Amino acid sequence: MEQKQSLSALADKLSAEGPGVKTIKLRQLLEPHREAFGVRPTKMLFPPVEIGSVTLVDQIVLLSLMDFCTPKRIVEIGTFLGYTTRMLLENSSDAIIYSVDLPQGDSTTKDGFDLVRVLNDGDYNDRYLTQQRELIGETYLADLPESILARLRLIRQDSTTLNYADDIGRIDFAFIDGGHDLETVAADTACIRQAVKNGVIVWHDYSSGIHSGVTEFLSNEDNCSEVFHVAGSLCAFEIRKQA
Ligand SMILES: C[S@@+](CC[C@H](N)C(=O)[O-])C[C@H]1O[C@@H](n2cnc3c(N)ncnc32)[C@H](O)[C@@H]1O
Repeated sequence: MEQKQSLSALADKLSAEGPGVKTIKLRQLLEPHREAFGVRPTKMLFPPVEIGSVTLVDQIVLLSLMDFCTPKRIVEIGTFLGYTTRMLLENSSDAIIYSVDLPQGDSTTKDGFDLVRVLNDGDYNDRYLTQQRELIGETYLADLPESILARLRLIRQDSTTLNYADDIGRIDFAFIDGGHDLETVAADTACIRQAVKNGVIVWHDYSSGIHSGVTEFLSNEDNCSEVFHVAGSLCAFEIRKQA
């Protein structure tokens, strides 16, 4: 199926009545995915163990939605250690992936972190993740072959200062997983929505027990006319279809 067809078919199947985030089952993504793409192998590392990355269900949600977009350009906000970056790269054959994270030296905290607080306090958790990225780097990208890395563009800039539509152009698939405070989520979403006209935007950390920014942002009905949350995951997504 062509990109527009399979994405439209998914949108029709999920079409939601009324405002607010709708919770769907993973099966509601997997069945249309099977219909559109058959059984296809995926390439993934075992799920990461580091605080701040994705779960196995999140991985499947991301890959399913990415397939529906047959993307040429992907934006990921929040490279962190490169786990999801690698997964997106290895499962998309010809997409250019722009992965955004803060510049080195942006971490304001030089001290050690209290790991109990990291798991309970969203802003503190965000500061911890930024420090971890600075200390460890994009370790999951280290052994990728040059032929795959050639499709990666690492952008080291505060995501809220970027203009994706002007600087990158049309984006087919976007994964928002950078700063999780309400202000940053709102700014990232507004700018990404300008650039994704036909495609999918996924937010990570919806319904998270640590971060409340994405849940709060999407709970405002003005911000989400057609947003779905996949039960058992931390992913919420929106299918964007230009009229
Ligand atoms: C949760 S981690 C991303 C995890 C990654 N997507 C994964 O699953 O492997 C969040 C990342 O966003 C970065 N970040 C936080 N605020 C940011 C901002 N304003 N601009 C760009 N990156 C930001 C942090 O430095 C951190 O590396």
